[in-house]
Amino acid sequence: MSTDVDVTYVESPAPGHGRLRPRACFGSDVPAVDLDGDWRFRLAAGLGDLTAGFQEPGFQDIGWDEMPVPAFWQLNDYGKAAYLNIDYPFPVDPPRVPDANPTGEYRRGFELPADFPLERAVLRFEGVDSCFAVWVNGVLLGDGKGSRLPTEFDASRAVRHGRNVVAVRVHQWSAGSYLEDQDMWWMSGIFRSVRLLARGLEDYFVHADYDHVTGTGTLSVETTAPNARLSVPELGLADVDPAGPYTAAVQPWSDEAPKLYEGELVVDGERVPLRIGFRRVLVEDGQITVNGRPILLRGVNRHEWHPRTGRTLDRETMLADVLLMKRHNVNAVRTSHYPPHPDFLALCDEHGLWVIDECDYETHGFESLGWAGNPSAEPVWREALLDRAARMVERDKNHPSIIMWSLGNEAGDGENLAAMAAWIRGRDGSRLIHYEGAWRSCAYVDVYSRMYAGHEEVDEIGRRVEAATENPADDAHRRAIPFIQCEYGHAMGNGPGGLRDYQDLFEKYPRLAGGFIWEWIDHGIEQTDEDGVTFYAYGGDFGEELHDSNFVADGLIFPDRTPSPGLLDFKKVVEPVHVTVAADARTLEIRNLHHSRDTGYLRWEWNLEAGGVEIAAGALEIEPVAPGESRTVAWPKEAVDPAADAAGDGELWLTVRGVLAADELWAEAGHEIAWGQGRIEADAGADAAAAAARQAATSAAARTPEVADGVIRLGDATFDAQTGVLRSIGGIDVEGPRLDIWRAPIDNEVWGEHGPRHEPLNSRWHGAGLHRMHHKTLGVSVAENGLEVRTRLAAAAVGFGLDVLYRWATDEAGVLWLDVVVDPYGAWTVPLPRLGVALTLPGEYDHVEWFGLGPGEAYRDAANGTRVGRYRASVAELQTPYVRPQENGNRHDVRWARITDAAGDRGLSVLGAPVVDVSVKPWSTRELEAAKHRNELRPDGRIHVHLDHAHQGVGSAACGPLLPEKDTLHAAHAEFRIGFAEIDGES
Ligand code: GAL
Repeated sequence: MSTDVDVTYVESPAPGHGRLRPRACFGSDVPAVDLDGDWRFRLAAGLGDLTAGFQEPGFQDIGWDEMPVPAFWQLNDYGKAAYLNIDYPFPVDPPRVPDANPTGEYRRGFELPADFPLERAVLRFEGVDSCFAVWVNGVLLGDGKGSRLPTEFDASRAVRHGRNVVAVRVHQWSAGSYLEDQDMWWMSGIFRSVRLLARGLEDYFVHADYDHVTGTGTLSVETTAPNARLSVPELGLADVDPAGPYTAAVQPWSDEAPKLYEGELVVDGERVPLRIGFRRVLVEDGQITVNGRPILLRGVNRHEWHPRTGRTLDRETMLADVLLMKRHNVNAVRTSHYPPHPDFLALCDEHGLWVIDECDYETHGFESLGWAGNPSAEPVWREALLDRAARMVERDKNHPSIIMWSLGNEAGDGENLAAMAAWIRGRDGSRLIHYEGAWRSCAYVDVYSRMYAGHEEVDEIGRRVEAATENPADDAHRRAIPFIQCEYGHAMGNGPGGLRDYQDLFEKYPRLAGGFIWEWIDHGIEQTDEDGVTFYAYGGDFGEELHDSNFVADGLIFPDRTPSPGLLDFKKVVEPVHVTVAADARTLEIRNLHHSRDTGYLRWEWNLEAGGVEIAAGALEIEPVAPGESRTVAWPKEAVDPAADAAGDGELWLTVRGVLAADELWAEAGHEIAWGQGRIEADAGADAAAAAARQAATSAAARTPEVADGVIRLGDATFDAQTGVLRSIGGIDVEGPRLDIWRAPIDNEVWGEHGPRHEPLNSRWHGAGLHRMHHKTLGVSVAENGLEVRTRLAAAAVGFGLDVLYRWATDEAGVLWLDVVVDPYGAWTVPLPRLGVALTLPGEYDHVEWFGLGPGEAYRDAANGTRVGRYRASVAELQTPYVRPQENGNRHDVRWARITDAAGDRGLSVLGAPVVDVSVKPWSTRELEAAKHRNELRPDGRIHVHLDHAHQGVGSAACGPLLPEKDTLHAAHAEFRIGFAEIDGES
């Protein structure tokens, strides 16, 4: 081994050597040198390939490359990122790691000014993945592990005024890697900032309690400096002993009103700014309370991610996350599965988000070994685990937003976890302790936490009738504590569906404190193909030996932070104020689910639309509703009594919106928080009468088809006389419509374990041949009032299929009506992906206007974020760019749609009877299904139109319960009707 240093630390379970004791992360005006920027860099292949003497100040690194700090080398041309969910990418042989252990050798020079107090020099690393050793001017300071935690070294004996050289050796694999088996990309490097600073105040701990009965805050700041002085001007504290305690009437801190008191500690001329939030977190009567009131967590699991820089984030990106969360009614974050960059927590304090801060600890890869040798239970790892707990708590203890400490994720169970909990409790009794892996006993945690529990289980827990645990004492404890779903609603690809069902339970049972969607963002890595088209890479794209494919892309926002339809659905489901527009009573109910905010911050707006066109609008004065209360008010008079002729223009809808009355830190005035919509049956009979009239018109005006030259003519439509398939409507050449039951399987169908043999639905569907159905024409018959085509749809090699009857007729308005009757035959064992008809149109018809739910995509179990209105979009805009292409873009409950050219005056009009689902794509289902990344999809020159009677729900089965029965589309008798008409600008 060509090394002049001891590298035994790499495979040692010890957390590090030569480190300073952990302490809070805080700013101050002590002298400091920022060491971020370009460092000299070489990547050694393993410990046998290290550069002798690289740490010496005189070492010649000319010819070495440069590597930015903070950054991951795999995203900067060295090595490759690798994605695995559960398994370790190396043999499970702790604490050993592979010989092929890429090791980054980093060097940089820096100047220390003549007045820098050398004897106080501290070298601080905010995050290095996974293990490192540090030298300054050739003097070894120590080594460390714990990638997402800070490490400090005393540098006083090594630094000098003038030029210094810092050298860091970073190992991709170490004993620490066994503790960091989170579901994410394996990447390495100095990925958070590095600073050399002068030691001043070592540490402080703000204790800021709030008594909601008296409205009093009690403040005491523990410091390591006996001569520290505290000032908090707003509380009238000037230059006082920080220990206090001081009491004063204060405004408490909460996610909704994140009041921070600015203060300052002064020690020997050093000034340390403080931001103090008063609050009290407790479990009371089996509920999580803050400041005496129960909280409901509308949360997300957040990994740190940027598609170009990985887990290295700048402040702008962290702020973008916080703003996006606040704007989408998210009120809580679990920092899955490691402490985030400290600036993120400061942003949560400032903007108001409840935080579960999670320790950098996961050992999921031991599960397949039956947890044998799991570090959670092995004494040899205890020191490392306690070290991780302490470094998290010490670093983050002064953030009021943190209400729970989480011991880690998916690390089995064991004594070491209990020891972590005990240590944390001893150090900070002001927060709750969370660890999902302890759910069976909950012996050492304060909340009962589960992941992906189905609706029934959550309901049982809500009613406190869940199955008992083995040990009666544990059972009594668990039954008395609140419940959260630390992960649910797996947001992979199209979905999640069924969120409303969970939220109804969370809002119904006091014991349920809500949950956290898995997860916030897709971890796709931005790539550009040969044609310059951007796409996002996932597992397997970098030639990994083992990988978990696109399981890394399961967020509510796309890698570029564009909200997915799932986030819009969630925003509606978790809105903190429910608005019910009751059509029968002509009233509006406002229900305030806020923790402590009344609705006075909202301005109420309403509008009335006829067929999607606004006919009246205004503001509503609604007295503020207190948290936990409801208020019912009358509709605006224009809605109670709409203009007499309004109903003639289509359905009448009243929409009421609660928007920010004034700017907030996180959104501008006018930003929508809550809304409700209700249909006004201006004349209840009118609809039925219109439908009846339409029906009558169809028969009355029915024309008789004419057959000539292999073509059947019906009105201005032509059909193939052999197959009965429509060929044209007026001047538009069409192919189809024909029955279509196939959709490009979504991730929940590809990954979910449906069926008795845990077989994904997608493979069961492929097994049944649903992706390769054949149409067999049984008969084409021309009758006096239209055309009848009988067909069968079935796949090769199977004995089941669908009998399909198409009945075509025209009405007096020239609308061509299609009635479809579907009857399954044979033994069906799978549900249908979709049930509808598909046709194609010439490529020029690439715009759609519709009246129905919108503007975004919606499916039967994920339609909350859409509302009835009139919308227009280009076909390109109708596509939802999931990282792995799959079924997307469906517009739900469409009353009518116009598929036209850009000008909007030529094309095809489609009528639902009363509604139809519409998706319009520039490529076929086959192409969509075959594509692995979105750049592989290119328009094929035709417009592919899907008009669906029904879809299978989207659910959350990739990692969660199976689709509930109510959202399943069984092969069963079905009838539906769709109208078609040419749109011709001339007419
Ligand atoms: C959970 C795990 C997450 C993630 C998720 C699936 O079991 O805690 O980290 O892997 O499943 O996406």
